[in-house]
Amino acid sequence: MLGDKKVLYSGMQATGNLTLGNYLGALKNWVALSDQYECFYGVVDLHSITVRQDPAELRKRARALLTLYIAAGLDPEKNCIYYQSHVSGHAELAWILNCFTYMGELNRMTQFKDKAAKHADNINAGLFTYPVLMAADILLYQADVVPVGVDQMQHLEITRDIAQRFNGIYGDVFTVPEAYFGKVGAKIMSLQDPSRKMSKSDENPNASIYLMDDPDTIMRKFKRAVTDSESQILYREEQPGIKNLIDIYCACTGKTAEETVREFDQKGYGEFKSAVGEAVVSVLKPLQDRVAELTKDKAYIDSVIKKNGEKAQYFANKTLRKVQKKVGFPERIR
Ligand code: TYM
Repeated sequence: MLGDKKVLYSGMQATGNLTLGNYLGALKNWVALSDQYECFYGVVDLHSITVRQDPAELRKRARALLTLYIAAGLDPEKNCIYYQSHVSGHAELAWILNCFTYMGELNRMTQFKDKAAKHADNINAGLFTYPVLMAADILLYQADVVPVGVDQMQHLEITRDIAQRFNGIYGDVFTVPEAYFGKVGAKIMSLQDPSRKMSKSDENPNASIYLMDDPDTIMRKFKRAVTDSESQILYREEQPGIKNLIDIYCACTGKTAEETVREFDQKGYGEFKSAVGEAVVSVLKPLQDRVAELTKDKAYIDSVIKKNGEKAQYFANKTLRKVQKKVGFPERIR
């Protein structure tokens, strides 16, 4: 708790082009929840360097991501929007938590296995301990709730395990967080292979809708989306392509799957795909316009970065000092 509010923490990596999955699975829920909680949203650039990055590009993308958070509707006066690398406590707590995490636990992480397979030439220790840094992010702010997409479920479970283990040894130091998944959109699938999640690192650009895609590109990608030969718009596992399109449509319009099935009863796939494309454009176009506007206001973004970085550092240090004392580090002489 912070004051009379529970605490929410979440973050996104500033790598690659953000996709509609990132928006519908995470960012959209962040905005919806932001009034109820005391919120911290990190641009998690420490996580990004587990994969080799171009420095100038990383800096640019990190700023673009922070701007996107604001453009999506997170008010930086009420929500702490900051760069993870500006708060030294993340790395410091991660080190301590590394000493309370087992190799066996980390070995089970499916995202590590996937990423290790993808970057076989750079399987570094950071990639392996990535979930511990993520646990540090969350526990540093004593978060009660963490809104994420389903792909982060395993990382939330290990965070809870680490917190409980630490609390078991030292008393109630950490709040044990709960994951929050949105009702729709928690797992948006690839438009080209609906058995895989929509991912910013997909090699096929038609598989993902990028948040900065222009309306024509969005419409074209939906027209090409892989479906099936059933010719019926039904919400069921046997039609994963159509099911994914229904999810996207519902997440963008607020309609339910049943309403959508009724709306497109007896209609063709072509018409439905166009409707989904239009629904997505109507969400992304205003977002893109706000990003363009905010990007021009350099001084404003700079002030957000400074003010919120300091705020995050303040709260992070409170937990960090407590943890350092618990594990037996000598007190600082003031
Ligand atoms: P990242 O940057 O890969 O993704 C950011 C958020 O987007 C969600 N997401 C999706 N949701 C639905 N459908 C999809 N296809 C889809 N693709 C991505 C992710 O679940 C995530 O919520 N490790 C994290 C970042 C992180 C973090 C944290 C998150 C670091 N520290 C602390 C929460 C709390 C990651 O790489 O997310």
